[in-house]
This record gives sequence, structure tokens and C-alpha cells, in this order.
Amino acid sequence: VQKQMKIQIIIGSTRPGRFSEKPAEWIFEELKNKSGVEAEIVDLRDYAMPFFESVNSPSRANGKYDDEIVQKFAGKIKQADAFIIISPEYNHGPSSVLKNAMDSVYIEWNNKPVGFVSYGSVGGARAIEQLRQVAIELQMAPIRNSINIFNPWLLLDEKGNLKEGSFDQLKDTASAFIDQLIWWAGALKSARG
Ligand SMILES: Cc1cc2nc3c(=O)[nH]c(=O)nc-3n(C[C@H](O)[C@H](O)[C@H](O)COP(=O)(O)O)c2cc1C
Repeated sequence: VQKQMKIQIIIGSTRPGRFSEKPAEWIFEELKNKSGVEAEIVDLRDYAMPFFESVNSPSRANGKYDDEIVQKFAGKIKQADAFIIISPEYNHGPSSVLKNAMDSVYIEWNNKPVGFVSYGSVGGARAIEQLRQVAIELQMAPIRNSINIFNPWLLLDEKGNLKEGSFDQLKDTASAFIDQLIWWAGALKSARG
């Protein structure tokens, strides 16, 4: 019997006019084609956490955090069996708001897989490589496959809307990416249980 896997899609940029929500909404739709998956979008705009300033390291906090919004974020992350993190590439790294969110909680990330989606002139590849290292320190399992969207600015019309069919060529890539994430989600859910 296939268990229901809870996959959270984390939108990793918060600026007005951000691109990140576009791949988030697309991948959310792609997840609907897979059985045994319960998908949810987690928007960092809904968790306006302070820049990390806790007295204690989250790795020693055992799920109890000083800040109310961080505690709320931890409660959300705790629910997931796997994550799809959508990050921009800012100066060859992930966004600060995303790194801050990753730093702010700990045990809730542990022993869960994560797949990355990024975009930019080289498809966000450099940001993803940095994120993989961060994920390992959070005791996550970063998966091999990723989704790289090249030159995202070319996919938008004058109004900033996504041109029709922009992600069509990534359909097979997305399917393989999701299958790999689901495999790890199942394996690690059993192991955690
Ligand atoms: C501070 C900053 C740094 C950037 N650095 C890079 C970069 O290193 N590589 C890249 O491909 N694009 C870079 N860009 C362009 C982004 O890929 C593009 O603005 C993208 O839409 C940002 O993601 P967002 O819209 O989700 O915020 C940068 C943009 C900003 C605002």
C-alpha cells in the first residue's frame, strides 16, 4: 500500500514581482499527476522571520524556538515528508531570506529529502550547489535531480506574466525529479517511523 507523502514546495524569494512563484505553481500542478502525493505551497512571505538572532543554535533547541513566527514555521516544516525548494540565484548563491529560513529551524528538516528548483543565466546551478551543502548540514538528503530554468526573464511578457507553455519542455525533467523525490520520501518516512 502506497502511503500518502506530504510534499511542501517552498517559495524562496519574497520581493514584489518575484519569479519564484511561477515555477512553484507549475510544479504544484505537476505533482497532481502523481499518486500518493499531498502537495502544499509554503510561501516565505507568510513567515516574516527575523534575521536569525536566537541565543541558542536551532540544532540544540529541540523544536522550541524563541520567536513566535519561527515556531509557526517550524510547525509547518514538521508536517512535511519531503521538500521542493524553489530558490533564485542571487550573486551565485541562494536568496538570503531562504538561507535564513533554513538556518532558523533544525530538527524539522532532519532526515527528509529535498529537491531544488532554480533559475538564472545558468539555470540557478550555482545556487543549487550551495544549497545542497546547507541541506547536508541540516541532516537532509538532497536528491541528485534538479530543475534548472535558464534565462527566466525571457519567459515573461511585457506585463511580467509567464508566456504560455514556458515550462512545457521541462515536463519530463519534472516528472523524473518528482519520482526521485517520492522514492526518497518513502524510504526516509519508513526509516523515521
Ligand atoms: C541581488 C541579485 C543578484 C543576482 N545575481 C544573479 C546571479 O548570480 N546569477 C543569475 O543567474 N541571476 C542573478 N540575478 C538575476 C535573477 O536571476 C533574477 O532577477 C530572478 O528573477 C531573481 O529571482 P526572483 O525573481 O525570484 O527574486 C540576480 C538578481 C538580483 C536581484
